Amino acid sequence: WWDRVRPAPKDPITSVSRAFLADASPNKINLGVGAYRDEEGKPVVLRCVKNAEAKVAGSEFLESISASANSRLVEESVKLVYGKDANVIGEGRLAGVQTLSGTGACRLFAEFQRRFYPRSKIYFPDPTWSNHHSIWKDAEVPQSTFSHYDPKSKGLNFPALVDDIKNAPDGSFFLLHPCAHNPTGVDPTEEEWREISYHLKVKNHFPFFDMAYQGFSSGDLDRDAQAIRTFLQDGHLIGCAQSFAKNMGLYGHRVGCLSLLCTDTEQAVAVKSQLQQIARAMYGSPPIRGVLLVSTILGDPDTKALWVEELRAMVNRICKIREALRESLEKLGSPLNWEHITNQVGMFCFSGITPQQTEQLQRKFHIYMTADGRISMAGVTMSNMDYLANAIHEVTKS
Ligand code: LMR
Repeated sequence: WWDRVRPAPKDPITSVSRAFLADASPNKINLGVGAYRDEEGKPVVLRCVKNAEAKVAGSEFLESISASANSRLVEESVKLVYGKDANVIGEGRLAGVQTLSGTGACRLFAEFQRRFYPRSKIYFPDPTWSNHHSIWKDAEVPQSTFSHYDPKSKGLNFPALVDDIKNAPDGSFFLLHPCAHNPTGVDPTEEEWREISYHLKVKNHFPFFDMAYQGFSSGDLDRDAQAIRTFLQDGHLIGCAQSFAKNMGLYGHRVGCLSLLCTDTEQAVAVKSQLQQIARAMYGSPPIRGVLLVSTILGDPDTKALWVEELRAMVNRICKIREALRESLEKLGSPLNWEHITNQVGMFCFSGITPQQTEQLQRKFHIYMTADGRISMAGVTMSNMDYLANAIHEVTKS
């Protein structure tokens, strides 16, 4: 039956994790996948999650609880995106569904887009999270890119970005990273977001936000949602994929939310029913345990406050590590400019290290990162800093 099946191409991110696991070197460092690690390089279970675990213990098999927890999750999630007092929430204009984390939210939306706008195209920032391309490809939605990153400045190419918005056919879909852009760590400023919103509006493009890292840009949940709120004020209809994998450290639990802002309640009811039907045929419903955890954390003021504090601590550690890595490379006398390590934000640094150099880092030093030179900053600790800085210096100095 399966003779015609050839191995699939390697995934640019998960293949790095696999290679890292297979490496027996005691010096190995994983800077591949975007997953938070503490100062000891260990995965973290947040205290707010442990508190929530204690609260929900024993309740996860009750179907009636699962139904109400789902709607509680959506109610609380949309407050994080649109603001806790946002009018659109009270007006019932949001169609929100629980999803299999951010990936599931994107996949669900891509399917919805193909069904209801079969000839539309999606535009991704160049570059974007590699899986965006695969998700919309599998949903058979044509895709293209718009400018984002400028390799020279290692910052935003704003004029080119605006030109690309203007040149796309009217009524296109644009995927935007509202904060902590993955993989570049380069976010537009507030003023630039206002202009982006304006130009999208003029062209009647649809903004779809993938917010996988809320909190990781600034350490502040509201500030990281500012771009979306600007679009809201400007009267856009909006789509948003949310993930609690990174900011609550619930990676394997797969908890997320997809929300679409509609014109009125009637539309929201119709849209929600379609999303639910697509999900039902694809995977039924997501597992319940993570949903209970997130809705408990967001619904209880003390546990939520603890979460905010712990999120800020993760972000602070990454900021310190950025400074220390830049300083270490400068102290080694690197001939290159490393300012972007501290200028970029979020989980990643788009280092400028070339594919050949990443290959050398892996082969000679057992240091793993994606071939595009993206460094997951959370994988860096004060203990592996010198080894890492020396290795980067070695492969980049000539
Ligand atoms: C990443 O970009 O490393 C994360 O979003 C994890 C993933 O699933 O790719």
